[in-house]
Amino acid sequence: MHSTINPAILYWGTPVAIVSSENEDGTFNLAPTTSVFWLGHRCVLGLAAESKTPQNILRTGQCVVNLPDDTQTGAVNGLAKTTGTETVPPGKISRGYTFVHDKWASSGLTPQASQVVRPSRARECPVQMECELATAHEMWTDVPGMAGVILSIELRVVRIHVLDGLRMDGYENRVDPDKWRPLIMSFQEFYGLDGGKKGPSRLGEIGEEEYRMLAAADAKQPVDDKHPVEEVDGKAGPEHV
Ligand SMILES: Cc1cc2nc3c(=O)[nH]c(=O)nc-3n(C[C@H](O)[C@H](O)[C@H](O)COP(=O)(O)O)c2cc1C
Repeated sequence: MHSTINPAILYWGTPVAIVSSENEDGTFNLAPTTSVFWLGHRCVLGLAAESKTPQNILRTGQCVVNLPDDTQTGAVNGLAKTTGTETVPPGKISRGYTFVHDKWASSGLTPQASQVVRPSRARECPVQMECELATAHEMWTDVPGMAGVILSIELRVVRIHVLDGLRMDGYENRVDPDKWRPLIMSFQEFYGLDGGKKGPSRLGEIGEEEYRMLAAADAKQPVDDKHPVEEVDGKAGPEHV
């Protein structure tokens, strides 16, 4: 039997990516995201527009999408609840975010020069994809007050680096899925493809209901008394991812 529910988030389980982008001062920012998919040699990221990363990508047209494996939760936790935006937006403050300029230090990751784009790769990540901006779209343009709060950013993947240990024997251009173990985030917690939980998640310290405004902005489903749709009224602010 199925039941009807109205979760605050629909984070069913996607790979964690760590995006490197160039700040105004020429240093490189790092940020984790899991709103990501690939088709062909295109990558689409879903990012809150108030974050430093999309602002850097839109300004410079470049980034590196690094993929950690399921042993690298420490690096992701070192980036969780941090922003490269000096004046931390109110919504992030309420969720415990702090400004960190040197995210390489906080994550323990090491910069490695890229070949095509300016932002560095994260040396410890088994997969590193150098990317150029193709186009960006505002999401939620159909909801008053929400247009541009979240951006979908379409990237061209222009160079792909993988650890030799991930390559399929006997092939020039294949990754062996028996060897690649992505870090999966499901409902703010970390998992591997083996099904096991991969230790604590700092992001998971944020209550799911902290994200309710974003879901409720659509106001398509009935919600319970604690979170009535009427309270949202199209006024959802930009700080809800
Ligand atoms: C595991 C994990 C997954 C995340 N996924 C997303 C996401 O899909 N989209 C998003 O906008 N933020 C996501 N975040 C939050 C961003 O990392 C956060 O907004 C951060 O402040 C961005 O850094 P920046 O402001 O320096 O770019 C995620 C954080 C973590 C730890």
